[in-house]
Amino acid sequence: MRSDRPGNDCSSSSSASASARGPSASRVSAFTDRQFRDALSQFATGVSVICAPGPHGRFVGLTANSFNSVSLDPPLVVWSLNRRSTSLAAFEKTEHYAINVLAHDQTDLARRFSRPHADRFEGVEFRLGAAGAPLIGGCIAWFECRHHALHRAGDHVLFIGEVTTCGRKNGAGLVFHHGRFGSTHPPG
Ligand SMILES: Cc1cc2nc3c(=O)[nH]c(=O)nc-3n(C[C@H](O)[C@H](O)[C@H](O)COP(=O)(O)O)c2cc1C
Repeated sequence: MRSDRPGNDCSSSSSASASARGPSASRVSAFTDRQFRDALSQFATGVSVICAPGPHGRFVGLTANSFNSVSLDPPLVVWSLNRRSTSLAAFEKTEHYAINVLAHDQTDLARRFSRPHADRFEGVEFRLGAAGAPLIGGCIAWFECRHHALHRAGDHVLFIGEVTTCGRKNGAGLVFHHGRFGSTHPPG
């Protein structure tokens, strides 16, 4: 169904082959970046911090809401990373990383891992998973992943990971919706 309300619909003549070529290749848009972002922001997501071993014995980690499930057999998950990320080289190099799903009371961590910081892990409680990636304390779920596939897609890189271990605990999750943090209210 098509909406005729001005300002509320998005359309583009971009073809699949054009979008595979890279950012903005041959795209004729009837919507602005703002309209695209605003429409996307209506999709409520959970919030994760994705961590990996980095250079010089340190770790890299960033806040990401692009995490999602892909396959149960084999167990695959996906997330996307901006090609401008300072962590891109580390994630392209590592064989293993960890996805930490934030609890409702971890907004400070979500902010910290989405902003420049001398050491994002300073003062953060974490332990190392079996493959050496940080598992952050207080999270409601975690997934340790082995690199499975990588696809360049526009201005982001899609990472597909095979889950090697995972865990969960009860508790409300942190939610990101329309540019704001909120909370889920699960039954238990
Ligand atoms: C709620 C939320 C979700 C985000 N999701 C993503 C994401 O999925 N992928 C991404 O590349 N950046 C995402 N960002 C932005 C990064 O966290 C931010 O750009 C961060 O500074 C990147 O750090 P880095 O350059 O050290 O990798 C998100 C930010 C917020 C606040």
